[in-house]
Amino acid sequence: MENDIRIFSEGSTLARSLADLVRDSAQNAVRERGRFAIGLSGGSTPRQAFSLLAAPDYILTIPWHAMHVFWGDERCVPPDHPESNYLMARQALLDHVPVPSEHIYRMQGELKPQIAAQSYEAILRQVFPHQNGATLDLIMLGLGYDGHTASLFQGTSALQETRSWVVANHVPQLSTWRITLTPACINRARHVVFLVSGESKAGILASVLQESQQAIRYPAQLIRPDTGSLTWMVDQAAASNLHL
Ligand code: 6PG
Repeated sequence: MENDIRIFSEGSTLARSLADLVRDSAQNAVRERGRFAIGLSGGSTPRQAFSLLAAPDYILTIPWHAMHVFWGDERCVPPDHPESNYLMARQALLDHVPVPSEHIYRMQGELKPQIAAQSYEAILRQVFPHQNGATLDLIMLGLGYDGHTASLFQGTSALQETRSWVVANHVPQLSTWRITLTPACINRARHVVFLVSGESKAGILASVLQESQQAIRYPAQLIRPDTGSLTWMVDQAAASNLHL
């Protein structure tokens, strides 16, 4: 699969381009299927794009009423904890846009990890019945310095999971549990977009994109959509080690 790599001059143009992509994907999905299912990424990179989506340019052009919001992963913390991916998305975006509350599917990080994962999988199987996978329209992902994405960390059991769509994943590197969509679940998406920004990610981005397939070492390489498309949206600083 040829990588679709889009390089933007700086973080602000990257964020706006992602917001444009979300708007266009949402309009197309609602026109074709009556709803738009998006998986939000965690971490800090998406915050600027989330805030943009709550700005007037997008408030009136995105069919929020038909949007269904999921997460790619969550920390095992309550929803009001500073590390909660849900909290960041709520503060930057969801508190400011008219997505129906019943369309916001939070991973319940406050529960026992295995219970939270089973509960989220049950939700996905309700929202995506009659399918052998949760076919989200768009999944946003970040890239960690060690090549992880979502909460798919090097050497963790989630990397080998082929049956479940959502798992509790113990991450020894962080001495913690995480809830994460599995690679197989993410790869069901119609479109997966990595958002990578900053010089500190230049080394790992080049390794993930230009070193041979070593998915155990770089879990982000496991993300290869079955039939959907994969896009890397990066700023020039993050792309500075790429040989294109
Ligand atoms: C999380 C993530 C994780 C994140 C990357 C990049 O819960 O932390 O989902 O995969 O996207 O670690 O994080 P930054 O955007 O903060 O660099």
